[in-house]
Amino acid sequence: ALAQTLAGERVVVSAGPTYEDLDPVRYLGNRSSGKMGFAIAAAAARRGAEVLLVAGPVSLPTPVGVSRIDVRSAVQMRQAVLGALPADIYIGAAAVADYTPRTQMANKIKKSSERLDLDLVRTPDILAEVAASEQALKLVVGFAAETENVAEYARGKLLAKRLDMIVANRVGIPDGGFESDRNAMTAYWKDGERDFSSAPKTELADRLVDLIVERLNA
Ligand code: PMT
Repeated sequence: ALAQTLAGERVVVSAGPTYEDLDPVRYLGNRSSGKMGFAIAAAAARRGAEVLLVAGPVSLPTPVGVSRIDVRSAVQMRQAVLGALPADIYIGAAAVADYTPRTQMANKIKKSSERLDLDLVRTPDILAEVAASEQALKLVVGFAAETENVAEYARGKLLAKRLDMIVANRVGIPDGGFESDRNAMTAYWKDGERDFSSAPKTELADRLVDLIVERLNA
């Protein structure tokens, strides 16, 4: 049996994409499958944590021992995550849309002109809000999905969003990142880093939870 190293800890995990609706039939989305976040939620539950998983639109079964709230948009994900506080640990593995249509059309946009410009506005940054929350958490962990300058951009997000840890992974590659069953990643915190070489997401989730337990006790 696994040591109950997270017994009594309340953990909130976000996973999957968000869908930002343009009209009743179309949306802006991304390639996140939810596999990474679901694996982390499962791994935390196996250590005895009380886990709430806030999931975007994905087709994955709820892990054993995990509570789940399904959402669609970034705004809905924000409401579910902030509503789940206070918590001890937040792990933001969701690929939250950075931009959403300024207005959502009530009816289907018709094909009437040669060009169509989309007017987009920024979404709220859920991770930054959790990190800045007055309901202080013990550990706030973000992810950084990058196609280039992975370490530099990830460290930038660690500082800008005032996180305790950021987990960087390369996306836009065949055998890792979005959709794949495998991933490779590097975790960064204020005075350290740890490499997780390519492995199934289920295994990486266990190793990441090991690190989270270490940092919690550091
Ligand atoms: O779901 P899979 O197919 O298994 O793929 C896993 C993954 C690649 C999606 C995952 O490992 C991952 O990297 N998740 C974060 C994706 C992402 O949106 O990264 P980002 O660098 O754009 O965002 C940085 C962090 O801010 C993330 O923790 C994100 O959840 C958070 N964020 C971003 C925008 C926003 N409006 N609110 C947020 O909370």
